[in-house]
Amino acid sequence: MQIQGFTALLVWLLPMWRLLTPVTSHPTVNRCQLMQNTAVCNQRQLSSVPPNLSQNIEELQLNYNHITTLTDDCLIHYPALTTLSLACNELQTIQPTAFQNSQFLTSLNLANNNLYVGYQDSSEALKTLPMLNALDLSENKLDEEMTAVLLENLTSVEYLNLSGNLVQRLDENIFSHLYHLKELDLQRNVLFEIDNAFHSNRKLERLNLAFNNFPCLTDFHMTELVVLNASYNFIDWFISRQDLNETFQLETLDLSHNNLLFFPFLPSRSHLQNLYLSNNRLNFYQHLEDNVTYTNMTTTVEFYNLKNHAANVTAELWKEDLHGDLSSLQLLDLRGNRVSYFPQGFIRSMPHLSRLNLCINCLETLNFTSERFSGALYELDVSQNRLNHIQASEDALTALSNLTYFNLSQNNLNFLPTRLFSLLSNLRSVDLSFNSINICLVKPTNTVSHCIDWKDVPKLKQLYLKGCNIKTISSSAFSGMSLTHLDLSDNLGLNIEKSIQKLWRTLQHLGLGNTNIQDLTFRT
Ligand SMILES: *[C@@H]1O[C@H](CO)[C@@H](O)[C@H](O)[C@H]1NC(C)=O
Ligand SMILES: *[C@@H]1O[C@H](CO)[C@@H](O)[C@H](O)[C@H]1NC(C)=O
Ligand SMILES: *[C@@H]1O[C@H](CO)[C@@H](O)[C@H](O)[C@H]1NC(C)=O
Ligand SMILES: *[C@@H]1O[C@H](CO)[C@@H](O)[C@H](O)[C@H]1NC(C)=O
Ligand SMILES: *[C@@H]1O[C@H](CO)[C@@H](O)[C@H](O)[C@H]1NC(C)=O
Ligand SMILES: *[C@@H]1O[C@H](CO)[C@@H](O)[C@H](O)[C@H]1NC(C)=O
Ligand SMILES: *[C@@H]1O[C@H](CO)[C@@H](O)[C@H](O)[C@H]1NC(C)=O
Ligand SMILES: *[C@@H]1O[C@H](CO)[C@@H](O)[C@H](O)[C@H]1NC(C)=O
Ligand SMILES: *[C@@H]1O[C@H](CO)[C@@H](O)[C@H](O)[C@H]1NC(C)=O
Ligand SMILES: *[C@@H]1O[C@H](CO)[C@@H](O)[C@H](O)[C@H]1NC(C)=O
Ligand SMILES: *[C@@H]1O[C@H](CO)[C@@H](O)[C@H](O)[C@H]1NC(C)=O
Repeated sequence: MQIQGFTALLVWLLPMWRLLTPVTSHPTVNRCQLMQNTAVCNQRQLSSVPPNLSQNIEELQLNYNHITTLTDDCLIHYPALTTLSLACNELQTIQPTAFQNSQFLTSLNLANNNLYVGYQDSSEALKTLPMLNALDLSENKLDEEMTAVLLENLTSVEYLNLSGNLVQRLDENIFSHLYHLKELDLQRNVLFEIDNAFHSNRKLERLNLAFNNFPCLTDFHMTELVVLNASYNFIDWFISRQDLNETFQLETLDLSHNNLLFFPFLPSRSHLQNLYLSNNRLNFYQHLEDNVTYTNMTTTVEFYNLKNHAANVTAELWKEDLHGDLSSLQLLDLRGNRVSYFPQGFIRSMPHLSRLNLCINCLETLNFTSERFSGALYELDVSQNRLNHIQASEDALTALSNLTYFNLSQNNLNFLPTRLFSLLSNLRSVDLSFNSINICLVKPTNTVSHCIDWKDVPKLKQLYLKGCNIKTISSSAFSGMSLTHLDLSDNLGLNIEKSIQKLWRTLQHLGLGNTNIQDLTFRT
C-alpha cells in the first residue's frame, strides 16, 4: 500500500514539474531570455547593451552586468521600450543622445552605479525622456550638486529614489522642476538641512528621510504629505507650523530612533493615524508649568533658519495644544522612552486609538478611570515600566470592550483591581510575568487583591505568568477555561496539583521551565 502510494505521487509530480519549468523552452538570444515583450539579460557578464534583441521589446533588464557607458545609439533598435533596468552595473555615463529613440520610456532603474562620474552628460540624456515616470538613482555617490544637475527639467517624474547617496542639504532648486513628484526616497544620505526644498512639489505624498543626520525638523508645513519617515536621525525637535488653518493630509509619521525629549508638535489639524515614536527620550513636562521652583527657567525655544531668518519658529514648551490633532490616531508607538505620566486629557484626545505600545518607559501608575482610553483599544503594552498601582472603575473597564492583548509584564505590581481582567470582555491574551500577583485559591472579596481568579476571564486563550512567585495552584484554578498557551516558568517550587489536567483539550503550549516540576501526566 505504502509503496503504491509513493509511485502514484511521483507520477503525479512529474507533469507538475514540467509545468513549473517552462523557461528553458523560450528562445535565448545573446544569452538573454525573451518572454513576451521582456528581455531578461541579468548577470550575463555583458559590457554593452545586446544589439540584436527583438525590436518589439518593451522591457529590458540588464542588472548585474559590467556596462560602463550607455552609448549614443545602443538603444536605437528598441523604440517600444518602456522599462529599462541597469541596476548594479559600473555605469558612469549615459551619452547625451542615448535615449533619442526611447520616447516611451517610463521607468528607468540606474541603482547602484557610478553616475557621479559622468552626471553632466547623463543629465542631458535624461532630459530627452518626455514620459519618464519612475527614476531610481540610488547608490550612485551623488552629492547635492550632481543630483540637482541630473534632475533638471525632469518634470514628468513621479517616483524618485535617491537613497544611499551623499546628499547633505536640500535647497530650493534641487527638486524645483519635479512638479509631479509623488514619492521621494532619500534614505541613507548625509542630510542635515532642508531649506525650502519642496515648494514646487505640491503632489508629494511619501517622503523617506530615514538614516540621515537631521538635528531637528522645524517649520514642517507640507500639508499634502501623507507619509513622512524621519526615523534614525538625531532629531531633538519636531515642530509643525502652527499658524496654518489647512488640514494636513499626514497619515503616518515615523520619528522613531531619534533624540526627541518632547512629544512632537504635530499639526493642529490632520488625519494622522500612525505615529511611531519608539526609541527616543520622550516625556511630558506639564508638571513644570507654573511651578515656582522653575520660574526663571526658559519656557520658550526659538529656532532660526540659517538663511536670512525667514522662518523663525518660537514654541512655548508647556503649551498643551502643541500635541496637535490626535483625533484620528489609531497606532501610537512609544516604546523605549521616558514617559512617566500622561498629561490631562491626552489619552482622551485619541478616540480611535487601537494600539498603544508603552513598553520600556517610566510609568508608575495607570489610572483607567481618569485617562478614559478609547473603546477601540485593541492592544495595550505597558510592559517593562515601574507600575505599582493600577486604578480602574468598573465603567472604565467595561468600556474597553475591544481590548484583546494586554501586556503588563516586568512591573512592580503586587496588587490589582480584583475585576481588572474579568470586565474586559474581549480579552484573549494577558502577560503578567515578573510581577508578584498570585492565582487565587479562594475567590477574593475586596476590590483590590494580591491574586487573580482567572476563571472569571471567559475568552482568555493565552496566559503568561512567568516569575510571579506563585507557589500553589489549586486543582480547580483553570477549570472551565480553554487556554491554548500557559506559561508558568520561573515560579520556583511551584505545586500545580491537578490544575493543568483541566486544560488538556485546548492547551498547545505549556511553559514549566525552572519550576522544579519533574513529571506531568496529562490526561486523567
Ligand atoms: C546577435 O549578435 C551576435 C553577435 O553580436 C551573433 O552572434 C548572433 O548570431 C546574433 N543573433 C541574431 C538572432 O541575430
Ligand atoms: C530646464 O531647466 C533650465 C534651468 O534649470 C531652464 O532654464 C530651462 O528653461 C528648462 N527647460 C525646460 C524645457 O523646462
Ligand atoms: C530605493 O532604493 C533602495 C536601494 O536601492 C531600496 O532599498 C529601496 O527600497 C528603494 N525605495 C523605494 C521606495 O523603492
Ligand atoms: C521608516 O524607514 C525605516 C528604515 O527604512 C523602516 O525600517 C521603517 O519601517 C519605516 N517606517 C514606516 C512607518 O514605514
Ligand atoms: C486662520 O484662521 C484665523 C481665524 O479663522 C485667521 O485669523 C487667520 O488669518 C488664518 N490664518 C491663515 C494663515 O490663513
Ligand atoms: C514643582 O517641582 C518640584 C520638583 O520637581 C515638585 O516636587 C513639586 O511637586 C512641583 N510643584 C507643583 C505645584 O507641581
Ligand atoms: C529669578 O531671577 C531673579 C533675577 O535674576 C532672581 O532675583 C530670583 O531670585 C530668581 N528666582 C528664582 C526662583 O530662582
Ligand atoms: C528671526 O530671529 C532673528 C534673531 O533674533 C531676527 O534677527 C530676525 O528678524 C527674526 N526673523 C523673523 C522673520 O522674525
Ligand atoms: C484615578 O482617577 C480618578 C478619576 O479622575 C480619581 O478619582 C482617582 O483618585 C485617581 N486615582 C489615583 C490613584 O490617582
Ligand atoms: C477593535 O480592534 C480591531 C483591531 O485594531 C479593529 O479592527 C476594530 O475596528 C476595533 N473595533 C472597534 C469597535 O473599535
Ligand atoms: C510582553 O512584553 C514582554 C517585554 O516587553 C515581552 O518579552 C513579551 O513577549 C510580551 N508578551 C507577549 C505575550 O507578547
